[in-house]
Amino acid sequence: MIDSFYNKAKREGYRARSVYKLFELNKKYNLIKKSDKVLDIGAAPGSWLQACSNLANFVLGVDIQEIKTLKANNVKTLKLDINDKDILDKIEGKFDVVISDVAPKTSGIRDIDQDKSLQLSKRAFFIAKNRLIENGNFLCKIFQSAEVDKFINELRKYFKFIKTSKPVASRKHSKEIYIICKYFTTNK
Ligand SMILES: C[S@@+](CC[C@H](N)C(=O)[O-])C[C@H]1O[C@@H](n2cnc3c(N)ncnc32)[C@H](O)[C@@H]1O
Repeated sequence: MIDSFYNKAKREGYRARSVYKLFELNKKYNLIKKSDKVLDIGAAPGSWLQACSNLANFVLGVDIQEIKTLKANNVKTLKLDINDKDILDKIEGKFDVVISDVAPKTSGIRDIDQDKSLQLSKRAFFIAKNRLIENGNFLCKIFQSAEVDKFINELRKYFKFIKTSKPVASRKHSKEIYIICKYFTTNK
């Protein structure tokens, strides 16, 4: 569906309209600082990478699909399936912020799509838990379902601040929400 955010993204040279969701959430919740090293999970086609190349110091984008090379020299990309059992060996180092817009290919069957989204978001959290610095931030997209509250309760064990949000650029009929998690700690 072509809408105003789609047109705006085209006009402003962004690869996807989802960039405006990140801009809104980052403005509201101060997730990313200029000095930060960011990990972007489910990064293709790359609009969040384009944004992070200006918002942060460095960004690594991973996706199961190839990500077309970006011009910025503080952006690196890897073609990876986050379900790969050796994923942590392939994503090295620590990050100040992990952002995940990962989403399954939707089938149109609500329960199946919700479950796939939950599994991918849990996987993104597993990576975040192992790759975030103390006090780091995590942003996670998920399709709403009865299971999401349980997932949020699990996140609460590791972050001092949790909120959910549906940004303006998120399509009305879309069941996606974003979970904003700040101040990661392993000592809660
Ligand atoms: C909504 S798109 C992300 C859009 C991106 N934030 C942007 O601004 O360009 C969701 C992405 O999740 C990726 N994805 C789905 N399953 C994945 C998996 N198992 N491992 C890695 N990436 C995956 C898809 O390939 C897709 O590119």
